[in-house]
Amino acid sequence: MSPARPRIVAVDGPAASGKTTLARRLAAHFALDFLDTGLLYRAVARRLLDQGRGLDDQAAAARIAAAIGAADLDPAGLRAEQVSQGASRVAAIPAVREALLSFQRRFGEGARGAVLAGRDIGTVVRPDAGRKIFVTASTEERARRRCKELQANGVPSIYERVLEELRERDARDQSRAVAPLLPAGDAFVIDTTDKDIETAFAIARAYVAGASGAARPSPCRPA
Ligand code: CDP
Repeated sequence: MSPARPRIVAVDGPAASGKTTLARRLAAHFALDFLDTGLLYRAVARRLLDQGRGLDDQAAAARIAAAIGAADLDPAGLRAEQVSQGASRVAAIPAVREALLSFQRRFGEGARGAVLAGRDIGTVVRPDAGRKIFVTASTEERARRRCKELQANGVPSIYERVLEELRERDARDQSRAVAPLLPAGDAFVIDTTDKDIETAFAIARAYVAGASGAARPSPCRPA
C-alpha cells in the first residue's frame, strides 16, 4: 500500500536539530520533492562574501537574492561556518526574505508536492501546509551533533566554540523582526534531544501519514 501523501510538508527548527535529515527522509518516503531553504540564504551570503561586500549591504543582498535559482544551491561551499553566520545575518534583511519567497512558494507547486525545510515554512512560506513539524533539541545536544558533523567533514572543531556560534545564530534567528524562528501554532513538535534519527523519523512519518493521535484534531462524527 502506498503511504498517504500530503501535498506540502513544512519542517522547521533551529540549527542542527535534525530537521534537514528528517525532511529529506520524509520526502523520499512520501515521494515528494525536497527543498532545503537554508541553502537559499547561504547562497546569498556566499555570493556577498565572494563579491567582497559587507553582510550588511542590504541593497546588494536583495539584488543577489532576487537572482538566486536552483543552480546556486549546490551545498558544496555553502556549509562553512562563515557562511552559516552570514546566512543568518542576511536572513534578517526583510528585502532578502521577500525576494526569496516566490522561489520557495513556486517550488511546492510542482506536480509531486514537496517537503520544505527551514525556519519559517509553517509560519510564512506555506502557512497552508497540510502537515507542519517543528524539530527541536537542547542547545548542548545540537552543538555536539554539529561538532561531530564538522569533524567528520575534516573541519577541526572545538565544542565550546560551536556551542557559542549556535547560541549566537539562534538568538539572531529568534529575535529578528521578520519571520523569526518559532513553531507555527498548529505545528507538531518533535524534541530529538534523546532520539536517534530512526526514532525521530518513525514519529514524523506517523504524523505525516496521519497516524499519530496528536497530529490532527479528530473530526466530530456522530457516535
Ligand atoms: O543547517 P542549519 O540548520 O545550520 O542552517 P540552515 O537551515 O542552512 O540555515 C542557515 C540560516 O539561514 C539560518 O541560521 C537562518 O538564519 C536562515 N534561514 C531562514 O531564515 N529561513 C529559512 N527558511 C531557512 C534558513
